[in-house]
Amino acid sequence: MSKSIKVAVTGAAGQIGYALLFRIAAGEMFGKDTEVHLHLLELEAALPALSGVVMELQDCAFPLLKSVVVTSDANVAFKDIDWALLVGSFPRKAGMERAELLKINGKIFIAQGKALDANAKPTCKVLVVGNPCNTNAFIAKAQAKRIPAKNFFAMTMLDQNRAVTQVAIKAGAAIEDVKKLAIWGNHSATMYPDYFNAEVGGRPLTQVIKDEAWLQKDFLEVIQQRGAAIIKARGLSSAASAANAAIDTVKNLIVPTKPGQWFSVAVCSDGSYGIEKGLMFSYPIVSDGQDWKIISGLTHGAFSQEKIALTQKELLSERDAVKELL
Ligand code: NAD
Ligand code: LMR
Repeated sequence: MSKSIKVAVTGAAGQIGYALLFRIAAGEMFGKDTEVHLHLLELEAALPALSGVVMELQDCAFPLLKSVVVTSDANVAFKDIDWALLVGSFPRKAGMERAELLKINGKIFIAQGKALDANAKPTCKVLVVGNPCNTNAFIAKAQAKRIPAKNFFAMTMLDQNRAVTQVAIKAGAAIEDVKKLAIWGNHSATMYPDYFNAEVGGRPLTQVIKDEAWLQKDFLEVIQQRGAAIIKARGLSSAASAANAAIDTVKNLIVPTKPGQWFSVAVCSDGSYGIEKGLMFSYPIVSDGQDWKIISGLTHGAFSQEKIALTQKELLSERDAVKELL
């Protein structure tokens, strides 16, 4: 076993942390050939609870889990790490939009961006899960100049997984037959699952699902409001599916993408498709296992253009709202 990885998980005693850590330690994120060193960051007050999670990690006797650091100091947590999974932050309650969390969560990403800059490997990759994840990633990226902007990501894979399942159900198709269904823009109620460029069983999605009213309205609304629907039903936000999407995201980035496929993650815009440079915008992405690129050359009709413009507008207003923090 020659490969080994140091991965920091913030908010490790939280709901998503509990659904995520055991899967990372089992090798589901970085592969069964990679030893894992976990660096767990929590608020001081949550360290007692986190010690119980660490006991459970020990009690699983995971062969790949080589060490666990537990701390409330971001400088310790981010020391020499290869990956940072920034989960720790406050979830919204029923009736709130994710952007309303910016006031309480935004400053977390200032401090953590600085700590990443000072301590992480310069090759470190950073996946932001904590909401509003696009703008939190934008904030962290602005603080960590030593780490390339290309290494910052915000999670929209949960939205893609939700969209794929809804399409599979409607089309009576298998999950794996739904491809190229990317989320564009913000992980928010303006996100746009671009069904026009998607495929079901090798055919354009719009030729398989001809119910245009469902696609334009019901489908979009279900995906855009799924997080809120889960909070309403559970009284808590999604956790197991969010952890699963974090695993999918990292795997998508570190394993070469299969030919004829792409996946969703928010990356630092290079201006592709007319999106303002520097915004953390979700695009269809492919990876060669080391580096990633945005799929180019897709076309968008008037409906898609309008939706993409709307989600960009929201991200620009979130960026403006945090300007004084940066
Ligand atoms: P949770 O409240 O169960 O856990 C969050 C944990 O973070 C808590 O244990 C808290 O002590 C810790 N924390 C808070 N501030 C911290 C800091 N500065 N440093 C370290 N730890 C800190 O919440 P959760 O359900 O695990 O959700 C976490 C975040 O993920 C929320 O913002 C939620 O909205 C978001 N989320 C995003 C997606 C997505 O698709 N991007 C999906 C689900 C949830
Ligand atoms: C989700 O999409 O489930 C998360 O972003 C949590 C939320 O607040 O909706």
